[in-house]
Amino acid sequence: MNVINQDYPVCNLEAHRFAPEPAFFVIFGATGDLAHRKIFPALFDLHQEGALPEGMVIIGFARRSLRHAEFRQQVLEDVRAHARHSSFADSAFEAFSSRIWYLQADLEQPEGYHALAKIIAGENPGFFAADDGEPRSLSLPRNALFYLAVGPEHFGGIAENLGTAGLGTSVADSGKPDSPAGSQGWRRLVVEKPYGRDAESARALTNLLHRHFRETDIYRIDHYLGKETVQNLLYLRFANSVFEPIWNCHHISSIEISVFEQDGIGQRGGYYDTAGAARDMLQNHLTQLMCLVTMEPPATLDPESIRDEKVKVLQSIRRYSPSELVRHARRGQYIEGMGPDGTVIPAYRKESKVSPDSATETYAQLTLELDNWRFSGVPITLRTGKAFAEKFSQIVIQFKRPPSALFAAQCGEKLVSNALTIRIQPDEGVWLTFNAKLPGVPAIKASHLRFSWREVSNYLPEAYERLIADALAGDSTLFIRADESEHAWAVIDELEKAWRETDPEAPPEAGGLWRYPAFSPIPPSQG
Ligand code: BG6
Repeated sequence: MNVINQDYPVCNLEAHRFAPEPAFFVIFGATGDLAHRKIFPALFDLHQEGALPEGMVIIGFARRSLRHAEFRQQVLEDVRAHARHSSFADSAFEAFSSRIWYLQADLEQPEGYHALAKIIAGENPGFFAADDGEPRSLSLPRNALFYLAVGPEHFGGIAENLGTAGLGTSVADSGKPDSPAGSQGWRRLVVEKPYGRDAESARALTNLLHRHFRETDIYRIDHYLGKETVQNLLYLRFANSVFEPIWNCHHISSIEISVFEQDGIGQRGGYYDTAGAARDMLQNHLTQLMCLVTMEPPATLDPESIRDEKVKVLQSIRRYSPSELVRHARRGQYIEGMGPDGTVIPAYRKESKVSPDSATETYAQLTLELDNWRFSGVPITLRTGKAFAEKFSQIVIQFKRPPSALFAAQCGEKLVSNALTIRIQPDEGVWLTFNAKLPGVPAIKASHLRFSWREVSNYLPEAYERLIADALAGDSTLFIRADESEHAWAVIDELEKAWRETDPEAPPEAGGLWRYPAFSPIPPSQG
């Protein structure tokens, strides 16, 4: 049987998924950075892939005074600069831009929301007149998705205003025959990060949102879940029979999840200095990766089964005492450094909008343990940092050494343990490290079996494409449920408290800040 050259069939799961439905796609913060860099380019790419439903209407909601045509021109610039299909930006833009409209309104004031409600109810066809006054006849959708691409200080206020304007889906509404989920179509709220800054504020925000939207209608974004390589974790683990039998504490010695970046914090000092690496990255992206790597097989592929299993992982994280936490964690902050091409990143404390004596960490590392049967005793290290020599995200599953007989007895440390590396970016793939005989000599050397995504396909959609399409389809699998967010915050809250109570000038192993020059090499693995 020649399995290598066999042409295997493709099992397409698309038929089992919900399809994106026509809707008003309303973007709050439509002239902001996120909308420019991610949302409009992703919408254009979906449009190009034929994945946007017919009749979908995009409304930019922002304060700036702009005509529809001026707003579309801005979107064209975004698409040219950031879309995957940017080479089609000019030729294909007209068809895309016929979906786009602009509503000038103040986020804080109710008037804009009432105007929006009228537009959505089809009571203001004049809104869709061209800038030259020519009326357009559009067949309007009944559904509406509200995308909060704004700072977190606006989340609650927007939900409140939407609810007051009759655009929410509060629990009280859900039983009524004319509720938004009924004859008026559905309403969904997409919320960006940061979702709270600790468990308490996340809970308060959830309570506020729940006054106007049901939990099932809230889509909390963690863009890591939209990455193809992150979704592949479920496929790798549960569509294969070779990994799952050894995916436990009997065979795995440690797990390390790393997200390193080359850039410093750039212009984001105002936000970052109040957050730090643990809040910005550990609480969400790295914790989510840990859940996907360690959770039990879900009963089905439906969103709640998967999210239930993730919550069980979060509940089984061992709670450390403050001194244990300090011992199991490291924090660092970059100082000035120069890259190989002469680029200089200033010291974090000198970055704009950063306090000159800031103790905010730009590197965070935390080793957790899960008190469950599968992973008991396996250290799981999460680490992330800015201004390092490389940018990559990966998960390394380190397997136990072979028993100390035959080769292991003779080779000692030179016999490398097996490892499975799941490369999330930039060179997406899966690598298995294993030992093999060197040709011609009785010697052993570790080698890699490599699977590279790019060799299989050049089609790697952006995370935001997947997430937007799923939100339009009502598939919440790749979004964070309220309880997931709160459990994840509980861990970070304790870490933050332990660090607050530790002198940042203490040695790094005693909880102080490790000062590393920008462009430092990646710190050695702990595994
Ligand atoms: C964001 C963080 O959520 O993720 C940023 O706020 C970080 O600080 C970014 O740079 C990293 O995402 P990616 O996809 O570039 O790894």
